[in-house]
Amino acid sequence: MVNVGIIGYGTVGSGVFEVLNTNSKSIAVKAGEEIKVKRICDLRDFPGDAAEKLITHDFNDILNDDEITIVVETMGGTKPAYDFVKASIEAGKSVCTSNKELVAKFGAGLIKLAEKHNVNFLFEASVGGGIPIIRPLNYALTAEEILEIKGILNGTTNFILTKMNDEGLDYETVLKEAQDMGYAEKNPTADVEGFDTCRKIAILTSLAYGKQVDFEDIRTEGITKITKEDMEYAKALNASIKLIGESKKENGTVYARVAPALIDREQPLYSVHDVFNAIFVKGNMVDDVMFYGRGAGKLPTASAVVADVIDAAKHKNKHIPIIWEEDKLELGDIREYKQKFFVRVPADMKEAVKQKMPELEEVKTEKVKGEFAFITPVLTENEFEEAVKDLKIINRIIVNFK
Ligand code: HSE
Repeated sequence: MVNVGIIGYGTVGSGVFEVLNTNSKSIAVKAGEEIKVKRICDLRDFPGDAAEKLITHDFNDILNDDEITIVVETMGGTKPAYDFVKASIEAGKSVCTSNKELVAKFGAGLIKLAEKHNVNFLFEASVGGGIPIIRPLNYALTAEEILEIKGILNGTTNFILTKMNDEGLDYETVLKEAQDMGYAEKNPTADVEGFDTCRKIAILTSLAYGKQVDFEDIRTEGITKITKEDMEYAKALNASIKLIGESKKENGTVYARVAPALIDREQPLYSVHDVFNAIFVKGNMVDDVMFYGRGAGKLPTASAVVADVIDAAKHKNKHIPIIWEEDKLELGDIREYKQKFFVRVPADMKEAVKQKMPELEEVKTEKVKGEFAFITPVLTENEFEEAVKDLKIINRIIVNFK
């Protein structure tokens, strides 16, 4: 019998309890023995809940219980999660977490600590919820040089953008609807400003290149400036606007960023709608692979945590190596990265723009009046800013076509 302690009995933590109970028989077969939740630490009480009797308010009840060999951390945030996770590993317990803030900031150090104590620190649920992506990067794609990772990594923003596109609504209206439906948080900043996506692409890029990518170094732009007019232009281009977290290796340099981008119909990411997530990976041998599924939600995320718990149970006294060194990976300057830009300016600037950029491609839609919209040639951001410095830009969006 393997005993588990859960810290944080919120959406994901209670999902872990549910998955372990619902699938207990098949999990026991796969793990080689029964896995049971022994204690749950949370500040709250849960009267009437199936886990009511397991609740403790004192983390020491988990830490000091030698029968608990696996700790599930589903609190979120880094304080006090980091201290609890560190103490658990130092006490010889494996830790499985869904906490992307913790993993993005302290992942490399916690892996090293787990190695030192011959236990495991596993974090499949920290990116893409129920979508397997951490394990594929660690196991299935290890023969590859990863050339590119490109993902829709946030369900809330994908839901908002999908609804804006399908129903012709503006950002504020859809955000309010998403909040009323419980998809978006009351304070939606982490999702809509791209910070959540940023941590996730930092984790994926760290794993792809085996070094620490600091999320603070990744240029991050959210979806708050996307309008229904942008959506009309996207439709005219046979494209959709998605919040993309991406990293790319070019001439030995890794570039990473988070930004809304126009994605054309040729790419599978075009068809990823609503709260779904998808991660596209390009390797130098395997070429393109893509992972798709529910990137958030109680049971999908909990399922990924429990898969880690089973892995930890199967690897008692055996550290599963994960290549993610604490040395920092210096990212290339994203301002020097080349791409096309979609740009909207007032109609009376048409001639001035055409003179500056004779090779531009005009974008037309009947739905928007009084503007001139176009796609630039391939430019770095520095070149783009120089080219448009005297123009009044209504909006500009990165063009991420195949
Ligand atoms: N807020 C996140 C999302 C939850 O919307 O995708 C999963 O990390």
